[in-house]
Amino acid sequence: MASSAYLKLHLAFYLSCVFSLSLAQNSIQLPLKAVNLGNWLVIEGWMKPSLFDGIPNKDLLDGTQVQFKSTKLQKYLCAENGGGTIVVANRSSASDWETFRLWRNDESSFSFRVFNKQFVGLENQGQGTTLVAVSNDPSDSETFQIIRNEGDPNRVRIRTTSGLFLQAQSETLVTADYEGSSWDDSDPSVFQMTIKSRIRGEYQISNGYGPERASQDHRSTYITEDDFSFMSSNGLNAVRIPVGWWIALDPTPPKPFVGGSLQALDNAFQWAQNHGMKVIIDLHAAQGSQNGNEHSATRDGYQEWGEANIQDTVSVIDFLAARYANNPILAAIGLMNEPMSPGVTLDNLIRYYQMGYDAVRKHTSSAYVVLSNRLGPADSKELLSFAGSLSNVVIDVHYYNLFSDSFSSMNVLQNIDFIYNQRSSDLSAVTTANGPLSFVGEWSGAFAVQGASMEDYQRFAKAQLDVYGRATFGWAYWAYKCDANYWSLKWMIENNYIQL
Ligand SMILES: *[C@@H]1O[C@H](CO)[C@@H](O)[C@H](O)[C@H]1NC(C)=O
Repeated sequence: MASSAYLKLHLAFYLSCVFSLSLAQNSIQLPLKAVNLGNWLVIEGWMKPSLFDGIPNKDLLDGTQVQFKSTKLQKYLCAENGGGTIVVANRSSASDWETFRLWRNDESSFSFRVFNKQFVGLENQGQGTTLVAVSNDPSDSETFQIIRNEGDPNRVRIRTTSGLFLQAQSETLVTADYEGSSWDDSDPSVFQMTIKSRIRGEYQISNGYGPERASQDHRSTYITEDDFSFMSSNGLNAVRIPVGWWIALDPTPPKPFVGGSLQALDNAFQWAQNHGMKVIIDLHAAQGSQNGNEHSATRDGYQEWGEANIQDTVSVIDFLAARYANNPILAAIGLMNEPMSPGVTLDNLIRYYQMGYDAVRKHTSSAYVVLSNRLGPADSKELLSFAGSLSNVVIDVHYYNLFSDSFSSMNVLQNIDFIYNQRSSDLSAVTTANGPLSFVGEWSGAFAVQGASMEDYQRFAKAQLDVYGRATFGWAYWAYKCDANYWSLKWMIENNYIQL
């Protein structure tokens, strides 16, 4: 009797261990209430512009789009045909062909990438003097110093590595052989520079500071364990953490990227565990750039992720899955944030998603795999049939009442109606009974209404919580911290705009 009771007790204990172990594997409470740790391991300058303050010539970072007007001819430099031939100075207004994207070597030395993606240089592989845009690979002859006028930094002269200046000799002849040194309007080497747009992402900040000065401070101070404590005590149970492809090459990623994001992600797993939260890893920046946005860590805004990048991107997923698959805190791995249509084709995306899914499944059968819908012109249901053949997968949609003219004229009520009608039906369309789960992986309390009251913001957020609460995998607010208050869930909670 005694021994049999003893045995039973042991058996029960053993069984309960097995049971709770297997529970631990699947102990994710869905739907998740999550927040994005944006601007932490993948920088987005708009969220905290002061991060860039210490960079010399900080308005001339990689990807900055500039135009040059000859003060003498009063005409713009133009890569004729958008590139592939000569550079001329005969345009009276500036558009795509007259716009040059900077690749920064150091604070004053750059290459200029044109519309068709070639680089400005000297003809005959640098032996000639006429300016052309034919090289696909910037070398010395595609490298120029921008010399800024002290009193007027957008009045510039452009010098080759041999020390001679570019000059607009005539509307159809731009050469690199000028020795003069004046700043007069009549000087053919003087240009008025216009900065059209700029990018402030991970590439820009790392390359802007340079490998020696690019600091780790941000990573260790922006998000700490206290934040996990704040999140969990305010009703959140998960974080979505954007990471960049270079995390797989930590601690020595290729320049200009800086090591250390892997340690930060390890810390996040520990802090999440300490506070009863889960982690969704989100590959936010894929090599080549899947959307051309600064948060994809693009160098110059061109969207170049494609077939040639699939294998390397799968390797990043494999790396992350191998490292965290057996960590009970891992909820999901997102294979790619916001691929953009039509640059990312559905064919390439599905091929990649299948391989990325397989890479995760090599290491775990239980972690969810998140498939982000394409932005841009794409059917929101285009992944459903593919995803239906996989298990434990999630369709990720991002809902902002922003970034489209249609929102700029809406009042508060119309914004709220849009959530209850349009968003609700969009979300239903990707929320299927037996297929993948649905996830509103990004949304925000910010909208385009000017001068909205606190109550307006509260109602707008409430509407979104109501509707996005129906997503079967859950939702994630963008973001946890941000200089712009309505984009910061921390601020929204602390100031009573949102209660969970
Ligand atoms: C500028 O010069 C190029 C090269 O001679 C010529 O093909 C083009 O038509 C000119 N464009 C204008 C607007 O003058």
